[in-house]
Amino acid sequence: MHPRRQKLWQEIGEWQEDFEDRLIKTIGKRKLPSKNIVSIDDLSTANMKLIFDCAKLFKEFIIKPDKKINLLKGMSQINFFFEESTRTRISFELAGKNLSVDTINVSASGSSMQKKGETLNDTARTLNAMHADMVILRHGKAGSPQMIADKIKAPVISGGDGWHEHPTQALLDLYTMLEKRGQISGLKVTIVGDIKHSRVAGSLIRALNKFGVEPRIVGPPTLIPYGLDKVFKCKIYHDLDEAAKGVDVIYALRIQLERTAGGDIPSVREYSKCYCINHERLALAKFDAIVMHAGPINREVDLKTEVMESDRSVVEDQVENGYAVRLALLYLLMGGERR
Ligand code: CP
Repeated sequence: MHPRRQKLWQEIGEWQEDFEDRLIKTIGKRKLPSKNIVSIDDLSTANMKLIFDCAKLFKEFIIKPDKKINLLKGMSQINFFFEESTRTRISFELAGKNLSVDTINVSASGSSMQKKGETLNDTARTLNAMHADMVILRHGKAGSPQMIADKIKAPVISGGDGWHEHPTQALLDLYTMLEKRGQISGLKVTIVGDIKHSRVAGSLIRALNKFGVEPRIVGPPTLIPYGLDKVFKCKIYHDLDEAAKGVDVIYALRIQLERTAGGDIPSVREYSKCYCINHERLALAKFDAIVMHAGPINREVDLKTEVMESDRSVVEDQVENGYAVRLALLYLLMGGERR
C-alpha cells in the first residue's frame, strides 16, 4: 500500500478506536429499558438523556469524510416502510450503513402484503425466522409497530404509525431544542396545525410533558381532538397570534390532506390565512425563538418561505440531528448487549 494511504488508514483506525472508547465511557452502565421504541412512553427522561448524549458524539462522526465504522458489523437491519418517507427511511438506512450493518429496504409494493394479502402477523413471523437484528417499521395503521415487536425477538423501532406516534421524530425534535436553547424543561413551546392527524404531535406532546413542558396547542377546533387537554398537559388555543406570544419555540405541523384534513377546513387558503407562520406572527414570539417543522413542508400553508429561509428556522438542523439520533438508537439497541 502507498505510504500516504497507509497513514490515512492508520489515522482512521485510531480515530474509530478513540470514538468507540468515548462512546462506551459516555454510556457507562446506562441502557435503554426495552428492546423496542414504539412509543415515547417506552422512555424515561433519563433514557432520553442517554440517547441525546450518544447523539451528541455521533454528530462529530457524521461530519467526518470517512463515516464507516465497524461498530455493528455482521448485524442486519430491515427498513420496512409501508408509507412514503424521505427523512426517516434515508437517515435510518445511512445510519445502519455507517455502523457497518447490512441494511435491507422493503416497501409496501415490494412485500407480499400489499397484493398477495399476507397478514402483518405472518410477516412478523417471517422476519423472525430470518433472524433480523433490527426492524424499523412505518405503517399507516396505529399499533402496527407494537404488534410486530410483540412477535419478534429483534428490536423494533417505529418509523411512524398512522395518526398515533413518531417517537424518533420527537427524540430528534427535543435534541434540537436542547442544542439550540440549552435546555428542554422550562421552554415555552407552541405547536400549531393539524394536531388531529399528526403522529409527530402525538410523540412530541408526550415527550415534552415528560420534561414538564406543557405546550400550547393551536389550530382550528376541527383539527384538535376533543379532550386533548384532559389526556395530556397542554393548553388549547384557536388564535395563533395569542398562542405565539413570548414563546421559545414555534413548531408548525403539516396539514395532512392525504389523511382527510381537507374535510376539516373550509379551504387550504382559509386555513393558511389563520395558521401559516409568517414574519409578523414570528415577531410575537421571543426575539430569538426558533421555528421547527418535521417536514415535508407545505410552503405558504404551514410555513411562509420567508420564515423557512430565515436564520430562525432550524428545519435542516432537525434533519441533521435525526441522522445523529438514529445512529445513537441503532448503537444503543443493537450494540448494547455486545459491549
Ligand atoms: N419527518 C418525517 O417523518 O419525514 P419523512 O416522512 O420524510 O420520513
